[in-house]
Amino acid sequence: MEPSTDTLASQIDPQKVPRHVAVIMDGNGRWAKKKGNSRIFGHKNGVEAVRQTVEAAAELGVRYLTLYAFSTENWNRPALEVSALMSLLMEAIGQEMDKLMRNQIRLLTIGDTEALPDNVRSKLRAAIEKTSANQGMRLVLALSYSARWELAQAARAIALKASQGLLDPERVDQRTVEEHLATAGMPDPELMIRTSGERRVSNFLLWQLAYAELAFVDKLWPDFRKEDFHAALLDYQGRERRFGLTSEQLEKKA
Ligand code: FPP
Repeated sequence: MEPSTDTLASQIDPQKVPRHVAVIMDGNGRWAKKKGNSRIFGHKNGVEAVRQTVEAAAELGVRYLTLYAFSTENWNRPALEVSALMSLLMEAIGQEMDKLMRNQIRLLTIGDTEALPDNVRSKLRAAIEKTSANQGMRLVLALSYSARWELAQAARAIALKASQGLLDPERVDQRTVEEHLATAGMPDPELMIRTSGERRVSNFLLWQLAYAELAFVDKLWPDFRKEDFHAALLDYQGRERRFGLTSEQLEKKA
């Protein structure tokens, strides 16, 4: 990967790069419609934006990049669109594997991946395994994911352990919940970016985004480029994150 030379990137403070950035890649369908083309054409053109985002994040030293690639609700889309998305995902993984290895990027997934077609699951499993020793950025694909699914499965796992006497119900606290989420062991995202101008969280990482800064970008996903990622990071660095404290308390802590 060539280091980025755009002026926005040079203004980013390397000491204040978020450890975890989450992205809702929205607007493929609208992008395609504007061009008089099929939704699938939009998804195909979204892959370049994925590539640029992964590169930008890795170059800046982001440790975790989570991309909302397929939601639980997306299963209700027309079968042709669902299968096109699955094929695109498989193709992209195949094409990018060398680059992931070269750049030490480790692939992970969150979501109900049992629901994915067998060929997609085995391709993902192989890619996760192959990249498992990579020490660079974690690229987390949210696939068949929704936050309510995740919270419900965490509640189920905790209840099951309690019923088996493996866990004291009186001692269930925030940490117990965190340990049973799909993101167990990952830091919470400090920044969440959503493209396409929609200002919603749409069932994405509801627990983990509790204190995240939200960046809503008007561009549709296939138009999203490295510079847009840099702009979102710069904007994030200009914000004061207070975690419920006052500005004065924060100054004293610094
Ligand atoms: C949202 O646009 C986008 C998606 C549901 C899928 C994103 C998938 C890709 C970019 C392709 C491959 C993914 C990877 C990780 C290589 P939308 O269809 O909801 O757009 P709309 O809101 O305009 O209809």
